Amino acid sequence: MAKFKERKIIVTSALPYANGSLHLGHLVEYIQTDIFVRFLRLTGKDVIYCCADDTHGAPIEIKASELGIKPEQLIEKFLKEHQEDFKSFHIKFDSYYTTNSEENKYFSDLFFEKLNKKGLIYKKDIEVTFCNNCKRTLPDRYVKGKCPKCNAPDQYGDVCEACNATYETIDLKGPYCVICKNTPIRKKSEHYFFKLSAFSGKLQEWIEKNKNFQPEIKNFILNWIKGGLEDWNISRDGPYFGFKIPGEENKYYYVWLDAPIGYISSLANYLKSTKKAEEAWNKNKVMHFIGKDIIYFHFLFWPAMLSGAEFNLPDDIIVHGFLTVNKEKMSKSRGTFFTAKDFLEKYDAEHLRFYYANVLSKKLADIDLNFNDFKERINNELAGNLGNFCYRIISFVNKNFNGEIKGIDKNESLISQINAKVENIRKYYESLNFNLAISEIMSISDIGNRYFQNNEPWSLIKKDSKKAEEICGLCINIAKNLSILIEPVLPKFSEGLQKQLNLSALKWEDINFKLKNHKINSEIILIRKIEEAKEEEFPLSLKVAKILEASEHPNADKLYVLQIDLGKEKRQLVAGLKGHYEKEQLKNKKIIVITNLKHAKLRGIESQGMLLAAEDNNGSVGLLTVKSTELGNEAKFGNLKNSNGEITFENFQKIKIIAREGKAFFNNLELKTDKESVFVEKVREGKVR
Ligand code: 2FM
Ligand code: ZN
Repeated sequence: MAKFKERKIIVTSALPYANGSLHLGHLVEYIQTDIFVRFLRLTGKDVIYCCADDTHGAPIEIKASELGIKPEQLIEKFLKEHQEDFKSFHIKFDSYYTTNSEENKYFSDLFFEKLNKKGLIYKKDIEVTFCNNCKRTLPDRYVKGKCPKCNAPDQYGDVCEACNATYETIDLKGPYCVICKNTPIRKKSEHYFFKLSAFSGKLQEWIEKNKNFQPEIKNFILNWIKGGLEDWNISRDGPYFGFKIPGEENKYYYVWLDAPIGYISSLANYLKSTKKAEEAWNKNKVMHFIGKDIIYFHFLFWPAMLSGAEFNLPDDIIVHGFLTVNKEKMSKSRGTFFTAKDFLEKYDAEHLRFYYANVLSKKLADIDLNFNDFKERINNELAGNLGNFCYRIISFVNKNFNGEIKGIDKNESLISQINAKVENIRKYYESLNFNLAISEIMSISDIGNRYFQNNEPWSLIKKDSKKAEEICGLCINIAKNLSILIEPVLPKFSEGLQKQLNLSALKWEDINFKLKNHKINSEIILIRKIEEAKEEEFPLSLKVAKILEASEHPNADKLYVLQIDLGKEKRQLVAGLKGHYEKEQLKNKKIIVITNLKHAKLRGIESQGMLLAAEDNNGSVGLLTVKSTELGNEAKFGNLKNSNGEITFENFQKIKIIAREGKAFFNNLELKTDKESVFVEKVREGKVR
């Protein structure tokens, strides 16, 4: 009789856009998926992990045109970069493809044709926002204006960041084109719509029946359906980077139509056949991993399209929350925005994999990367517990038993305790509660450490060498089992550990206490601790001061002499503000002063420091000011520590501080005091000197 063949599992992660670098936020999902896929493989499942770059859409077309290159060149560059980044974080796809492929064109046309034939697509005239100067329809993000609901200025064409209202681009009040700043016009344009509304009943049933979906998500989606689904515009006017709609001159599929189809095309790339991909999709289990920002697409549009085109619907869609760093959104000005490459300059890829595994569960909650917690977990748990146990036992066996273990201590209670934990770990991996899996794995390593410590094989060896050796034998077995249990999270550590144990490519079924009469290899430290990060220094000392009085410089046309109060001391400055500020305007202003600049005489008058001001291309000069910070307090760029050493004017001039949108930056770090951002008066963009 033919053996029953289990279904394969097709796993996907969301496709990253091919117009930007991967950052720590992206990596949450790829690391989560990769851990799961590795776990499935380890337990003998047949998995195909597919992903691709999401290469179409207006932002890609516009970015390429700004750079003066073809969209094809832009997406090629990012495809290469993304693949390198995935590799360095040990994320291993079976197929990493591109949505700008022949297979994706084939499937997009197939879906369109099938849906069209069934009357699920219709044409309708709509009004779009068109820029006559740029000669293009302006998508959401390329038109700004006042929010039609709350009048907040400078809002994008789809959603107001002040009041969260959603609307159409044509609803904006006083709209302007983001590219050229001209006022756009409204224009009629015929578009293709997909009848999403026809799928309400089907989608509702599918969601209600599915036992895998996270409950929070289910409620959310069911509420959307209850509120009534609107048909979906699946076309865009050129210029656009994407696939042309058959029979049309200047219309393209909207990127969100062909992006999820990219999952199937990536599978076709793996199977080297579109026909096989269609078959495989329909007969195997399909699991998508996504972030909570794209649930609308994955729980409504995508299953409706699949259903209309007679493809199988996904069996599971796992949704994760957003990444915050120190409980806040990642931010360049706070110095908490890391690209994948930035991170690797300071830490190891497996540090991040370990940390994320520690905080990932099947819950939808946002996950926080706290750098203090990060350091502690890496140093105390990963290096201090797991790394330490494995290194200690391997080096002890090498030193005392010439690398050979013969027997195993028959400690039944310890073995059954560990076996029970192994079962839990399997369940935790399976249910995507990696945080719990990690804490069980750490507790096994803890048991190993304590067992080794309490039995003191270093003294026992003198009295009962056989017993000491058996104790080490049991420890080596624990280390072997740990190398398997941790493999999904730390594949490189696991590989290195198995090499030292003179083993390789172990599977879940190799978890046991049977390794004896075995010779191991020499020990190597596999996990490095995170060094105490040196606080980075900024060469200036910047403090808040109040101007007490301004008077004319007796020997210079453009200079004022200022008396300032720095809280604990008073000083005199000479500043070139004449023609930009009246003397009276300056009085009582709170400004930022460089207090470690070498004192100098300017036209015969001593200046004991310098104030910060910005100048733009038109020669306007504006002071850097604050409102509520106490006198004498520091202003700092991000986390950079102010310097105390004296600096010369020459060296000061080499430091590039800029004004951007009325704020001051050094290396993308914003200047702030403990209370507030430093504000640049009069100048929006310019140099600070
Ligand atoms: O939100 C995004 O980054 C999209 N590029 C995700 C696409 S996932 C899939 F549907 F293609
Ligand atoms: Zn324009």
